[in-house]
Amino acid sequence: ARLAILLSGRGSNMLALVKAIQGGVLQDLAEVAVVFSNKPDAPGLAAAAALGCPTAALPSQGRKRAEFDTEAAALLQQYQPDFVVLAGYMRILSPAFIQPFAGRILNIHPADTHQHQGLHAYEWAFDNHLAETKITVHLVDEGLDTGPILAQRTVDLRGAETLAEVERRGLAVEHELYAETLAELIRVKS
Ligand code: GRF
Repeated sequence: ARLAILLSGRGSNMLALVKAIQGGVLQDLAEVAVVFSNKPDAPGLAAAAALGCPTAALPSQGRKRAEFDTEAAALLQQYQPDFVVLAGYMRILSPAFIQPFAGRILNIHPADTHQHQGLHAYEWAFDNHLAETKITVHLVDEGLDTGPILAQRTVDLRGAETLAEVERRGLAVEHELYAETLAELIRVKS
């Protein structure tokens, strides 16, 4: 399956997916069609280029949402992705973007989407002294972290004394769960 991976920042989930393609659970199942960013200077975009992935950027700053999303969707369609994989893509998607890829857009959220939506999910878990939290992979619809859940995995937070430690444990689970969920989805759909 061809993946369009979308990011706005660091790109650690993108890196985990590329690793899984190169020698892990996504080997022989997936390829990177493009790594796309709405932030031309996102560190994750440079990291993807350094790995030899095709990359594309379209700055979203100052653009009207519907217009930007229409252009971004048209650009991505040129790469003929089977799945659009959000990996720290910090935008809410409008219908103009979702429609051409309906049912084929995935997101990873660092909480149980029934309990916490939007930003700062690790801060939320840390501030509330949760003994565990969940990572969620879900299909994207027009809401904020509201789409059908594909997979969840628990992160043990007992003894995690800093926000950095909460994030470290959570990201380790994110990196495994995203690749494994995609692998399963691709198997089912092909
Ligand atoms: C991750 O915590 C992801 O769950 C959330 O944004 C963060 C992106 O991190 N949606 P990275 O850019 O993949 O390192």
